[in-house]
Amino acid sequence: MQKIIAANWKMYKTRSEAAQTARDLAESGVPANRRVVIFPPFTAIAEVADVFAGSTTVAVGGQDVYPASEGAFTGEISTAMLREAGASWVLTGHSERRHVLGEQDDFVAAKTSFALAQSLNVMLCIGETLREREAGQLQAVLRRQITTAFVRLPSDRLEKYFAIAYEPVWAIGTGKVAESAEVLEAHAVTRKTLCDIVGKIGCKIPVLYGGSVKLDNAAALIALDNVDGLLVGGASLAAQSFAQIVNA
Ligand code: PGA
Repeated sequence: MQKIIAANWKMYKTRSEAAQTARDLAESGVPANRRVVIFPPFTAIAEVADVFAGSTTVAVGGQDVYPASEGAFTGEISTAMLREAGASWVLTGHSERRHVLGEQDDFVAAKTSFALAQSLNVMLCIGETLREREAGQLQAVLRRQITTAFVRLPSDRLEKYFAIAYEPVWAIGTGKVAESAEVLEAHAVTRKTLCDIVGKIGCKIPVLYGGSVKLDNAAALIALDNVDGLLVGGASLAAQSFAQIVNA
C-alpha cells in the first residue's frame, strides 16, 4: 500500500514562497511507495497546484472548507473555490481549528460530509488533549470524534477518498512526539472504531500520524502497525526536510 505523506503549511508562506518550495520539492521526486498531499494556505493553492499539474503522486488540498455551496459566510471558502484553484483534498477538524478557533465535533462532521459529497478527498484530523489523555479518556475522545464525523458520511466515497490523521494535541508543534506505544494504542483504537462503524471499508481507511514528525523519527513512525502515513507541520516548511521525510 502506498503511504501518504502530507504537508500542512498552516499560516506560513506567501504565494511566491509557496511556489518556490513547491518547485524545490518537485525536483526531489516521490518514491513509488509514497503519495504526497500538500496543504498550502488558500492564497497559494493555485501556485502549488500549477507546479504539480498532471502529477499522479502529488496532490494539493485546502486546510479548511465551509459546509455550504455558497452564501453569506464572510471569510470562508467553498468546495468549488478549492477545486477550481486546483485542490483535490481538504483537511477537516485540525486541532488548531478545534482548539484555537473553537470548532465543535458537529461542525467538523458537517464539513467532512459536505466536502466528501462535493467530490473532495477529505483528511479528518482527530486527537486528544493532554488533559483528556491524563484523565484516561483517549479511547472515548477518539471514538466520539470519529463517530460524530461518520453520522452523515456518504459511504460510497469512503474507500478511495477519505483518510484520518491521528494527531495528539499535546504533540503538535511542541517537539514532543508520541512514544511508539502511544501511537500504536491510538491507531489501534482508531482502526477498531473505523472497522466497527463502517465495516470492511472502514478497516481500509488510511490512518496517518501527525505531531512533531521530523526526519529523525519519521522512518520509525511510518513503520508502526496501522500507521498509513504522516501529517507533517513544521518539518514540511522547508523543501529539503520534507523531501527527506517523504523518502524516509
Ligand atoms: P507539527 O504539526 O508537525 O508542527 O507538530 C502537525 C500538524 O499540525 O498537522
